Parts: sequence; structure tokens; C-alpha cells
Amino acid sequence: MLNILTVFISVAVVQSAPTAAVSFVKDVAPIIVRRCTGCHGEKINLGGYRADTFRNMFKPGVSGLTSVEPGRPEGSNLLRLVTTKIEQVRMPKSDSALTTTQVGLIKRWILEGAKLDSGNPNTLLRSLAGARVHPAAPTSYSKPLPVTALSFVPNSNSIAVSGYNEVTIWDTVTGKMIRRIGNLPHWIKAIQFTKDGSKMVVAGGTPGEYGEVAVIDMVSGKRMAVLGVMSDAAFSLALSADNRYAAAGFADATVQVYDLQKLELRWSTRVQSDWITGLSFSKDGRFVVSGSRDTTVKVLEVATGELFATYAGHNRQIGKYRGQFPVFSAMFDSTSGDAFSAGAGEWIQRWNPEKAKAEAGDAGDMEERFAKAGHARYLEHGLLDAVYSMHLRNGKIYATSLQGAISIIDPQGMVPFRVLVPTVESSFVSAMPEDGSKIVTGAFSGTLRIYDSSSGARISQFVAQPGQSTGIKTTRR
Ligand code: HEC
Repeated sequence: MLNILTVFISVAVVQSAPTAAVSFVKDVAPIIVRRCTGCHGEKINLGGYRADTFRNMFKPGVSGLTSVEPGRPEGSNLLRLVTTKIEQVRMPKSDSALTTTQVGLIKRWILEGAKLDSGNPNTLLRSLAGARVHPAAPTSYSKPLPVTALSFVPNSNSIAVSGYNEVTIWDTVTGKMIRRIGNLPHWIKAIQFTKDGSKMVVAGGTPGEYGEVAVIDMVSGKRMAVLGVMSDAAFSLALSADNRYAAAGFADATVQVYDLQKLELRWSTRVQSDWITGLSFSKDGRFVVSGSRDTTVKVLEVATGELFATYAGHNRQIGKYRGQFPVFSAMFDSTSGDAFSAGAGEWIQRWNPEKAKAEAGDAGDMEERFAKAGHARYLEHGLLDAVYSMHLRNGKIYATSLQGAISIIDPQGMVPFRVLVPTVESSFVSAMPEDGSKIVTGAFSGTLRIYDSSSGARISQFVAQPGQSTGIKTTRR
């Protein structure tokens, strides 16, 4: 009896669906992104209409007419506007009409109930439809790749390293590769783990062409969501202390904040004019700071994406600290509400968002501003070139330079800097485990160097080259 019923149900299902349902993600969203979102997005929303997320597509514009009515193409203003014979009002406006096939897909999607087949209704359509499936990584690398991103896997001796369309994970004790995680962008610029190690967030892409922020489930090693897709590479990442939010910065100066639980975009903003190179959340989760190659550091409200303050200390016309210095790294203090920012120039700058806002007040309080000006503290780092990364561990700042040197700086500015490791070779990145016991630099040559963070003694080094690496070498520095 049960079997007969099962057979009956499956036959009924097959009969009621002669052709597969239209997929919003695969069939409809790409049309909307390509033909409509340019005029109906967040910043430009002509006619008061937005077609940038699934949810927004349903909301009426200035006409007040229902844009999409599930099951009723004739009641959907959107379909009326893409099919009308009146050229002046037809969408896409002042452009060629959609093809009969495209109109057919949109009509069937509405007829079939205008559903979202996968993903989140508040995710940008561009991310929903545009996330690429990436080519497989080569089994063996013919030459080492420059290390452009590094991060310790929480509570372990392993380190995640940027690879070619993948992140490779290495045991820092043996120097052996222990895992590969693929389906990632070509060029990886930032890696962050949630504190429990269950998720890995990866930012990367190809400059001027494609950028992606992906979340990987570390149990399966599979991509669970693509939080953001842009037409320029993603450069930097930060997670909030409670791991609720992730922030990403792109080469086109966009900063985005995502909800890591709902796996959706919260906001996207562009208030700078060059690469976003350093991001950090304040301990209380209120602010995210974004450092840029344009010499500014912006303080943004996590809740709204509104600009709270601009810190302009890396661009001074007069005085001892004058110069125009691109910013490559920014982080919040773990105890006070202060922020640190660094890049080119001889100093790490320590400043406070509230005071930076007061100092930048309107021209009316010029006198008051002068009185408050200069709250920033300049901490000399002793490195010979730009600071590319900073870490705060054991009450000290560890700064690494573009030449692989490492310096220890007192965040209070009371104790002079100490150069832990002098210049070695060109390096973009460094990483420290949570306990601060070690510091690892990643070089252009693909070499990882592991140092004891108190003595500066080199513990080991190896080349992170999948299929070729021979593990730990015993040669000296
Ligand atoms: C070149 C800019 C442009 C493009 C591209 C464009 N639109 Fe429009 N759209 C407009 C303007 C302008 C209006 C306001 C009404 C008008 O001027 O006709 C509008 C109005 C609308 C409205 C009515 C909103 C309301 O309730 O008042 C809908 C729905 C709409 N567009 C859908 C689309 C869709 C779907 C596409 C893609 C197939 C699209 N538009 C592409 C410019 C554009």
C-alpha cells in the first residue's frame, strides 16, 4: 500500500512539472544584473525602484504599482514595462529590449510563484548570480607563489597560506602541507578564521576584473556562501570580536560589512579613493576602521555604514610628522577605544575615533579644534620601509615591514621600539597565533619564516609550494 502510494506521488510530481522550474538565481538574476541594476541599484535608483536584491525587486517605485506579483504576470508592473510597445517607457530604458527568451523566463518565473530557489533574499543579486565556480588548483606548483595572505588556524600549529585558486594549510612544526581548500579566487589577499575555527573567510580576486569574499565551512572544506562579489579584487578582511560580522575592503575603495550568521550583506560604502588595505572592528563592535592607500583612515558605524570620522594624520602639511603616507594596516587596541594605523612613514599612529571626530569638527569651532588638535601619538617603529602588518599580542605591537623585518613597539609609547628581526627579503604578510608565541612572515619567494616572538630566534623555515615542498629545512637565516 505504502509503495503504491509512493509511486503514485512520484508520478504526480513528474506530470505536474513537464519542464524544470525557472531558477531565479541561474535564469532571472543574471538578466536583471546585466540589464537593470545599473539604473536600479542602491545609489542610483531611477523611478524610486531598486532591482539589486531579490527582496527589493518586489517593492514598488514612485508609481506605487506592484512590481512583481507572484503567480500573476498581468499584475506585475515589471513585466508590463519590459514588454510594452511604447518605446519611451519600455525597460531597460533607452536601450535595446530584452529578448523573447529573457521575457519568457521572467514571465514563467512570476507564473511559477516568483520564488527564490537558493540563497538569501537580501544578498545583492550580483553576489547571488555572479559568484564564479573556480578552476581546480594545480596538483603541484612548478614554482612557488608569493605569499599574499597568512592566518593561523585557531588553537593549532597549522597556518593557512594563499595559493593558486586555493588556500593550503601547513603544519608549522613539520613544514608539511596537511590540507587544500579549493574553489577560491585566483589571487588570495586575506584569510580570517572564526575563533572556534569552524569557518574560514577568504578575500581575493583579480584586480580590475573580479573580487570575491567567500565563507568556507572548515568541516566539509566547501564554500557555504559568497558574501560579496565586485568587479575589483577584495584586498582586506576583519571579523568582529564576537564573530557576528565580517568586513571586507576592495581595490575599488568599497568597504562592505556582512552578517556572518545570516550570511548576507549589511551595507556597502565607498568613502575613500584607493585600495582598502587594513580593516579592524572596535572591541565593542560599534566601529570598523578602514585604512586606505589614499592616506586616510575612515571610522564607519557598523550598524549603519555611516561615516563617523576621518583620521587624516597620515597626511600632514606641516610639523615634524608631515608627509603623505599611504596606509597599509589598521587595528583597534584590545583594551582602550583607540586605533593604530601604519603604512609608509616612520611611525605607527595611535588615535581615538571620538577625538578624531572632534578635531575634524566644522569650521565654526576652529578655536576649539585648535585646542583639541594633535591628540594622536606617534610611535616610532624603527623599520626601514613601510609597515604591512601589525599584531597586538602580550601587550605589545608586532609590526612587519615590506622587507620582512619585525619590530616590537610599546602601544603606550613608553618603551622604545626593539627590532626583533632585521630586513630579510620582500614580504607582504605576517601572522601570529592567538597566544603570541610565534610570528611567521610570508615572502614573495614563497618562503615562510617562523620566529620566536620574544627572542627573535628563527625556529624554522619552509617553502609553501604544493607538490614540491620538502618540509622544514635546517639552514640558518
Ligand atoms: C538607463 C536606465 C534604466 C535601465 C537600464 C532600466 N530602467 Fe527601469 N526605470 C528607469 C527610469 C528612469 C524609470 C522611471 C520611469 C520612467 O522614466 O520611465 C524606471 C522605472 C522602472 C520601474 C517602475 C518603478 C515604479 O514603480 O515607478 C520598473 C519596475 C523598472 N524600471 C524596471 C526595470 C527593469 C526590470 C529593468 C531591466 C530590464 C530596467 N528597469 C532597466 C531607468 C532604467
